[in-house]
Amino acid sequence: MTKQELIKEAFLARKQAYAPYSKFKVGAALLCESGTVFRGCNVENASYGATMCAERTALFSAVAAGERKFEMIAIVGGNEFEFNEVNGYAYPCGMCRQALSEFCKPDMPVIVARSEEDYKEFTMKELLPEAFTL
Ligand code: THU
Repeated sequence: MTKQELIKEAFLARKQAYAPYSKFKVGAALLCESGTVFRGCNVENASYGATMCAERTALFSAVAAGERKFEMIAIVGGNEFEFNEVNGYAYPCGMCRQALSEFCKPDMPVIVARSEEDYKEFTMKELLPEAFTL
């Protein structure tokens, strides 16, 4: 699967975002070593702290389905409501970086995209150096 295809999956995931409070809709697509892609969106709550991020929705869905090894993640997010373009790059929050680091290798690519053509690529290690482990 290409990076462009995974970004497209992230935009499809973003369509399901439930963000009536922040209006900031996020989509994530996580490619497993098995080849399966898990989509995730943010799911907000009237009790704001109960909100779940798109990245962890995708990660936990995949892990709950038995996946343990991952190849790449693409993330798209922003206030714009057009289907396949957003204003800026939506970087994963600190809690999502930590959650991803539990399963994803330090050199795994993390893509933040504004469109299928306009994206930036990092590694897990770049986004979370010296990650906490037990
Ligand atoms: N959000 C994500 O989905 N992923 C992140 O990494 C950061 C923030 C969501 C949570 C909330 O619904 C909205 O973006 C604004 O914070």
